[in-house]
Amino acid sequence: MLDLTTLFIERFGTSTAEQSVQYYFSPGRVNLIGEHIDYNGGQVLPIAISQGIRAAVRPTTNKLIRIQSINNNGELTVDIDTEGFAKRPNNWMNYPLGVIYKLWKSQQKLKKHLRIFETGFEMLIDSNLPMGSGLSSSAALEVVVAYVLFNQSYKKNLNQNDFMRVTLAILCQKAENDFVGVKCGIMDQFAVAMSKQNHALLLECDTLRYQYVPFQMRKYAMVILNTNKPRALADSKYNERKAECEQALNIIKKHSAIKQLCEATLNDLDFIDNPTLLRRARHVITENTRVTQTAKALIEGNWIQVGELLNLSHQSLRDDYEVTGFELDTLSSIARHTEGCVGSRMTGAGFGGCAIAIVKNELLEDFKITVANEYHKQTGLRLGIYDVSAQDGVKEL
Ligand code: GLA
Repeated sequence: MLDLTTLFIERFGTSTAEQSVQYYFSPGRVNLIGEHIDYNGGQVLPIAISQGIRAAVRPTTNKLIRIQSINNNGELTVDIDTEGFAKRPNNWMNYPLGVIYKLWKSQQKLKKHLRIFETGFEMLIDSNLPMGSGLSSSAALEVVVAYVLFNQSYKKNLNQNDFMRVTLAILCQKAENDFVGVKCGIMDQFAVAMSKQNHALLLECDTLRYQYVPFQMRKYAMVILNTNKPRALADSKYNERKAECEQALNIIKKHSAIKQLCEATLNDLDFIDNPTLLRRARHVITENTRVTQTAKALIEGNWIQVGELLNLSHQSLRDDYEVTGFELDTLSSIARHTEGCVGSRMTGAGFGGCAIAIVKNELLEDFKITVANEYHKQTGLRLGIYDVSAQDGVKEL
């Protein structure tokens, strides 16, 4: 385990008493179910996981923000005075930069000056979330930067301030939409900001109403299975799916008084002639129903039913939404057919990345070995496996 303090001092120099280093943790997330419907006004059911980003932060008295990463090269240096907000060629930097820029912009509009923009900070991050694997490494990064900015500016105890947490999740989503250019929904940032230990977060994405659903597995365990297939062209295909949903919505709107695709019913599909748009809309409508059913099954502790719903979700994402691909399909099928597994599906945006599986406790170790071997045999790729537990959202340690 790397000693973050030592590395921080190595990179940024020693600290004086009044400028002590603070520590933060921002988790990744897996979505149990409710995929590709957050941007259609649907419900989602994510949990924050124990893998994530650790950050060491020290306030400074100049107007410089400096961010370095142990996992990626380079330093993001933002000079507030010269408004150095131009996009960087080094991709990872644009996530924190987008957040800083959005917050700075909103302060300009309000004609207010946040403390942080009159001072500065140094930050070193260390992530054990594989990048681009669908576990929300980008949202974890955005949210921890926003959290630090809010924490240092408002001096409120954000660990217990849900209103501020929701505000920063929205800010981070806007940063990713407008600055980075991925038209993502609110799920990831909200999950990273608002999750609660031992609970799944049931979020209505149109109203942002949410509730916590107990997540206690008892006789079962959940694992993340990483295809280790990089998500090629994921961002452009993601934006393409979003545009297809908008087209389907516009067609249905001519006949039904709905505002979001998730409000449509299966009968509304009769209005859509284009077979691709019809399948996209069918996924959205059926997936939203599966979220309600999964939340109910979780409350009842009915893991067999949760597993069945996960399988149906994968099928719909494969056939109707077409965001799975060879590796994810192979992997979740192997998992599903291995003894002890009650259900498996892709999680996150898809096009590579990770799947999840629910497995009987006593068969878990055998399951891991069988699935890893079989997956390697069928794809030539090495499988990543991580145990899952439901954790809190971002926090100061
Ligand atoms: C990505 C996006 C989310 C969501 C998922 C798919 O993770 O960031 O907003 O749309 O894909 O469910």
